[in-house]
Amino acid sequence: MPALVLLGAQWGDEGKGKATDLLGGSVDYVVRYQGGNNAGHTVVVGDQKYALHLLPSGILSPGCIPVIGNGVVIDPSVLLSELSGLNERGVDTSKLLISGNAHIITPYNVTLDKVTERFLGKRKIGTTGRGIGPTYADKINRVGIRVQDLYDESILTQKVEAALDVKNQILTKLYNRRAIAVNQVVEELLGYAEQIKPYVADTVLILNQALDEDKVVLFEGGQGTLLDIDHGTYPFVTSSNPTAGGACTGTGVGPTRISRVIGILKAYTTRVGAGPFPTELFDEDGEALRRIGGERGVTTGRDRRCGWFDAVIARYATRVNGLTDFFLTKLDVLSGWERIPVCVAYEIDGWRVEELPYSQSDFHHAKPVYEYLPGWQEDITKAKTFSDLPKNAQNYVKALEEMSGAPISAIGVGPGRDETIQINPFL
Ligand code: GDP
Ligand code: IMO
Ligand code: MG
Repeated sequence: MPALVLLGAQWGDEGKGKATDLLGGSVDYVVRYQGGNNAGHTVVVGDQKYALHLLPSGILSPGCIPVIGNGVVIDPSVLLSELSGLNERGVDTSKLLISGNAHIITPYNVTLDKVTERFLGKRKIGTTGRGIGPTYADKINRVGIRVQDLYDESILTQKVEAALDVKNQILTKLYNRRAIAVNQVVEELLGYAEQIKPYVADTVLILNQALDEDKVVLFEGGQGTLLDIDHGTYPFVTSSNPTAGGACTGTGVGPTRISRVIGILKAYTTRVGAGPFPTELFDEDGEALRRIGGERGVTTGRDRRCGWFDAVIARYATRVNGLTDFFLTKLDVLSGWERIPVCVAYEIDGWRVEELPYSQSDFHHAKPVYEYLPGWQEDITKAKTFSDLPKNAQNYVKALEEMSGAPISAIGVGPGRDETIQINPFL
């Protein structure tokens, strides 16, 4: 069985954690391929709720090997505290594998993320402040620190020195902050090294060998398509590639081995942080979606911006990811509306536009063109099959499927593992 990718089709927080956990019991490996602890993936198992930031959601499935691929950026202190938090709750984390090529989020990267945002003022991105952007910038600038560097003190020191030579100039002269001492950073990083060592492995080799042996490998995306550094709403994006291609570069597994790409799609839309959002609501409907959907960030505790479903975005996600399926989540949140607006196209400067405009200025001007679908009043959280859903809910799903360009193979009707209607099996 080849590999599958599961990724966010909108601006993140679509319910990737739940979807990954659902599949976790049937796959051999769950692999994070990009991002870091900017992610917040909530998984509800029975009466237990877990908030995972860096670790793959597969860590909660006993038979599954969780992997942090080379494309991920790792804050070692977060890694260790997340692991010990899970251990305290009785979760076995001993099978975790971490790529030696993954980059380390250093303390100066976290500092730079925060001061840069403050410096940008009104123009800020609204990052999670976890050091993600500066760490990926260091990687591309070839001044990054990798996991494997933790095991060679002399190389680590040289690399931290080289990085801080420049960054201390920026911190002190541009941002008026104190310089960061090389030995302090090196000491802190070396302090984590031994605890992380048992997990470090050649994950590229292991994953490719697993696929040779017909094992099932699931790639779990962080963030979402519209937050992609190449394909998202730049510059209001994260600094990695959550889109399907990122699964290849972020793990060292070739595209020919991936047979299925599942887009996780919320039945409405949310976004955290700054940037354009055509269907955003500023009225009581937005407030109701936030309240009923519990739309508050798992990572930063910020309220999520809420709006109606945007089919233009869903179609775009189908295209740039080559989606084979959608997993539609949070349909239950929409129970109770008389009619539900769905954005089918945009109006930009008087023109009707069916596809996502490549021009940033056009997208900033895009006004949603709505179609109104009849709502339903029933509680649908107990629905087990498609036919258990009220007719109008069925029609809503069918309409979204038609507009979005890929089959909806599963529907979430609640946060729990079993609150899912499976239409086509994923495996
Ligand atoms: P992720 O970042 O994509 O993993 O999503 P988050 O965990 O940040 O946000 C999704 C939220 O919705 C979490 O609180 C989930 O427990 C919850 N959730 C996921 N699927 C469903 C669903 O179908 N219905 C409801 N009501 N909640 C869901
Ligand atoms: P999950 O995996 C939603 C957003 C931030 C900000 C932008 C850049 O839970 O879906 P960053 O710290 O990455 O440099 O911030 O990206 N962002 C997310 N929004 N869900 C996420 O992750 C996000 N990770 C980053 O709010 O707008
Ligand atoms: Mg999230």
